[in-house]
Amino acid sequence: MSSIRIEGLTRRFGSVVAVDGIDLDVPDGDFLVLLGPSGCGKSTLLRMLAGLTPPTAGRILLDGRDITATPPRDRDLAMVFQSYALYPHLTVARNIGFPLRARHRPRAETAARVEAVAGVLGLGGLLHRRPRELSGGQRQRVALARALVRDPGAFLLDEPLSNLDATLRTATRAELTELHRRLGSTFVHVTHDQVEAMTMATRIAVLDAGRLEQVGTPAHVYDAPASLFVAGFLGSPAMGLVPARLESVDGALHARAPGLDAPLGLADPGDAGRDVVLGVRAEHLVPTDAPAPGAARLRGTVRLVENLGSEEVAHCVVGDGDGAPRVPVRGPRPLRLAPGDAVTLTTTPDRLHLFDPGSGRRLVAAPAPVLPVPA
Ligand SMILES: Nc1ncnc2c1ncn2[C@@H]1O[C@H](COP(=O)(O)OP(=O)(O)O)[C@@H](O)[C@H]1O
Ligand SMILES: [Mg+2]
Repeated sequence: MSSIRIEGLTRRFGSVVAVDGIDLDVPDGDFLVLLGPSGCGKSTLLRMLAGLTPPTAGRILLDGRDITATPPRDRDLAMVFQSYALYPHLTVARNIGFPLRARHRPRAETAARVEAVAGVLGLGGLLHRRPRELSGGQRQRVALARALVRDPGAFLLDEPLSNLDATLRTATRAELTELHRRLGSTFVHVTHDQVEAMTMATRIAVLDAGRLEQVGTPAHVYDAPASLFVAGFLGSPAMGLVPARLESVDGALHARAPGLDAPLGLADPGDAGRDVVLGVRAEHLVPTDAPAPGAARLRGTVRLVENLGSEEVAHCVVGDGDGAPRVPVRGPRPLRLAPGDAVTLTTTPDRLHLFDPGSGRRLVAAPAPVLPVPA
């Protein structure tokens, strides 16, 4: 059982700031997913937790104890790498038992632990094979078993599923989630895959260019993205974004742009004239011939319709002219839209997201009808 606290953690490589002053709490038993694009600093952050990369600045606390300078083997953390890093010349049994042998545990205890852990991960019949005689999924499970065998306080997993094919990835995802539930241990899992993050995490930490953009439950991060970056990174298709301007219409605030009129359900606190970016998710837009009064309306043209099997996604251009923004709409198949169709899309004000175009930060319209002006 372990809680991890990260304070002002920074790592530079020459002029590159790989991890930039991150503060983060991982409570005991959490399944925290570090999510972000390639190169955003996920592996560097994880390697600092494991003790494999020394930080340039900041502290790491494990159960309240400062372990920033503690060598990896004394950290009660187990790391699983994307590449599995198995010993090719050792059998599965000896690979799994390696951390116990390295700690000179009694032979009988090691054998019993290896057998128990192999059973949990369905490796019982493979104990005498070598890594090259295993599939990718089996190798990945051996790497997990080797981490599990020590019963560490926390698991650090760096893209452990990314070498698996799609079917195996989905199955192993479910296995890992189940394992976390059964063990109740703390997991820190790195991935660039938003579906992995949404399905496995108890909390997601979104990273961009070494900085923490947002931390929250999958629902929170999806439903209330803190920035344009998070809004664009989570969700498939990505959230539709339309540059707009706030206008006062009979004292009520609207976001308007060519083809767009969106009442925000707010009295105008004096923000009229301000530029914003309006965001709306594909599943919250509905094509209609008769928009309800008070509904947000986006008028445009269908450019492309994608068939996803049970659903369709229609990519629509809002307004017209070169560079007009594109907004996807998603719904049960058939949507009854075809390329070239003129379309009106509607949604309700509570489905709208507003962002500051300069900072990219979310503008919050609650609790009072006041949009905070960025400093
Ligand atoms: N050992 C290193 N030497 C120099 N630069 C590095 C090293 N490790 C990582 N970086 C740089 O730090 C940044 C973050 O890398 P990394 O943590 O591997 O990102 P991610 O795991 O999110 O893809 C990248 O710009 C990468 O090139
Ligand atoms: Mg990485």
